[in-house]
Amino acid sequence: MERLIIHGGAGRIREENIPRVGEGLREALEAGWSRMDHATDAVVAAISSMEDSGIFDAGKGSVLNLQGQAEMDAALMTHERRAGAVANLRRVAHPIQVARKVMEETEHVMLAGRGANLFARAMGFPSVRIRSPERWKTYQSLRQSLRDAPRSPARGSGASPLVYPGLPALLRKHPELLHGTVGAVALDRRGRLTAGTSTGGIFLKLEGRVSDSCLVGCGTYADEHVGISATGIGESIIRHTFARTAAERMVARRLAPSAALLSVLREMPRDSAGAIALDRKGRFGIAHNTRNLACAWISDRQPAPHLRMS
Ligand code: GLY
Repeated sequence: MERLIIHGGAGRIREENIPRVGEGLREALEAGWSRMDHATDAVVAAISSMEDSGIFDAGKGSVLNLQGQAEMDAALMTHERRAGAVANLRRVAHPIQVARKVMEETEHVMLAGRGANLFARAMGFPSVRIRSPERWKTYQSLRQSLRDAPRSPARGSGASPLVYPGLPALLRKHPELLHGTVGAVALDRRGRLTAGTSTGGIFLKLEGRVSDSCLVGCGTYADEHVGISATGIGESIIRHTFARTAAERMVARRLAPSAALLSVLREMPRDSAGAIALDRKGRFGIAHNTRNLACAWISDRQPAPHLRMS
């Protein structure tokens, strides 16, 4: 049995972006499906393709933090509970490949910040500029909107210039900004299951902010039963340890993958998240409490790509 499912983020996809997102998903599915000899190869190939596309909030298309820099997170986990993750990675085209190196070349699960960057260079990943003209333009206009927004009284003495009370309101006004984290889950012929996720995080995040995507059990999780990759507002996903909670409910409550994801999403804030799942029996799961979740899947039973944007 061979199965591959990928996503390009939960949130709101602007109508005019649907063809581009669809094309990006199709290419990624193709890239992953051509590497199905090993579930991990398939996941890394699919995610690398989306990191390259510039369309999604990952790799070259990563959004920018408050200082105008891209800081990227990624994680990979297998059904044997092997895991590798990176946080706050800069100037790397394929964070998911660095996460894989952490899993395969070190005794650790996660490297962050300066250490993650040094490790990436030591592993031979070249330094590349991550700041697409499109993202830079959006950054400048958002930054201006933030400056112009009325400042609500800061909590306590928190008058730090780095804490913008206007940010949540700005994100509510532009829900499309949350869209674009990427992920994949694959089950190969030998029953190996791997899940992976990669993100640039959220626009105008504070420097050093860590997403759910690179946190095992939050945005990325795999065990002997299921692989899950989530997307959405990282802070909500982390507070609910979304992926691990859904995986546990699948077993404890004998839920199908979609039902398990949905049971957790119902407890989370509206418009906050979505996820894909794939279990050892080859059952796909897709669920979201946002307007859209862009995803695509393929299986050896029906080897034609299926795309879904709703
Ligand atoms: N889920 C991606 C993020 O919050 O950064």
